[in-house]
Amino acid sequence: MPEKLKKYVISGGKPLNGEVSLSGGKNAVVGIIPAAVLVKGVCVIENVPAINDVADLVDIMKKMGADVRYLDEKTLRIDSTNVVSYVADYDAVRKLRASYYLIGALLGRFGHARVGLPGGCDFVERPIDYHIKGFEALGAIVDIKHGIVVADAEKLTGTSMNLDFPSVGATVNIMLAAVLAEGLTVIENAGKEPHIVDIANFLNAMGAQIKGAGTDVIKIKGVAELHGGHYEIIPDQIEAGTFMAAAAAAGGRVILRNVIPKHLESISAKIEESGAKVEEFDDYLIVSRDADSPIKNLNIKTLPYPGFPTDMQSQMAALLSRAGGTSIITETIFSHRFKYVDELRRMGAKMTVDGNICVIEGVDKLTGASVRACDLRTGVTLVIAALIAEGITEISDVRYIERGYENIVDKLRSLGADIKVVNDDTPAVTETKIS
Ligand code: EPU
Repeated sequence: MPEKLKKYVISGGKPLNGEVSLSGGKNAVVGIIPAAVLVKGVCVIENVPAINDVADLVDIMKKMGADVRYLDEKTLRIDSTNVVSYVADYDAVRKLRASYYLIGALLGRFGHARVGLPGGCDFVERPIDYHIKGFEALGAIVDIKHGIVVADAEKLTGTSMNLDFPSVGATVNIMLAAVLAEGLTVIENAGKEPHIVDIANFLNAMGAQIKGAGTDVIKIKGVAELHGGHYEIIPDQIEAGTFMAAAAAAGGRVILRNVIPKHLESISAKIEESGAKVEEFDDYLIVSRDADSPIKNLNIKTLPYPGFPTDMQSQMAALLSRAGGTSIITETIFSHRFKYVDELRRMGAKMTVDGNICVIEGVDKLTGASVRACDLRTGVTLVIAALIAEGITEISDVRYIERGYENIVDKLRSLGADIKVVNDDTPAVTETKIS
């Protein structure tokens, strides 16, 4: 039976108060599950978030012959010993972006990979030429045939390479292909994001020899094989940032548990600049703002880590839509990542886009409307806007939000938000007549 489509119905205007515990990192787990293909043995992975991207990857892994089971709600046991196929299911891989990590992992394990070009959030064009260049540098021959990446290598041999851009995906994929290669691979101008470090730490826990993850230069000394082991995934940096933006926008006082404050520094700085208070502790943060105090306008430029993450700019745009003054967002990672602008305009936001720049003129109020979550971060941005809008907002296509946010509805409800989930065919309650 086809999945029943759902929508969120949110009645805005309530501050957020209380405490919420955040989940394991999406962009870490989507690399770690494919990485388990490299391991002949049992990997026990803890703090796995219950998100649709994980469900889709588990499905792909099972179809390839891996034994994948949940030991409890958040602990996944993956045994890839009996994986014999290097072909990933075409329809399944198209459901998510991160399926591209199967190319590096299968190539590393078998010297061959057949993986459909990835799908997922299609907010902009997202090439994988840097990944392919990296595989070729290691000795693979890579072609794209009928929508499938066809990669073959008689032998993978370590080498030095300099990435044209510190791409997250290319850094991880090359690491995956290199851990079992012969000799030393050096990736210069590597991505430094916390999830890259987490994937490297997972591989090291399984016997890989990767040094320098989190710096510009990653060195991978090839080993003959990896062994099973235990690993706990880091908390989700962007989920934390999203709740920080929501708390700053709605006002109130929210304690965010299970976070790594160091990973959130660039986000905390901007949340504070907007007039909210951020208090940092070992593994928790408190974000507060008196709901009657003004939101200050500010400028943001997205950059690779440790700069401000592209995955947080739209949530900040929702917050800044109510600021007293004009804010400017400059997007340098994905130049046209502004799909949310049209939807926020429906709610009364004043925003214009010129190339990679979004200019936001703060307004006194947003008003509830019927809007669509066209990708993961657009979707969650609309949730934040709905929390601060006057009246009711209905957000359709929420399956995109659930690709990356675990239990977002329950988490927000526990903080006092008025949010419910209904079937998409439930008649709209949003005010659509203008008196
Ligand atoms: N790029 C290329 N060629 C490549 C790879 C990247 O031109 O082969 C370009 C991209 O078009 C972009 C820039 O390089 O302009 C950076 O892209 P990157 O490779 O870093 O992004 P990604 O690996 O496709 C990951 C996250 C994204 C996140 C970006 C940037 C995963 C699965 N995805 O994507 O997460 O926005 O890094 O940090 O880790 C999200 O979670 O909402 C999300 C989109």
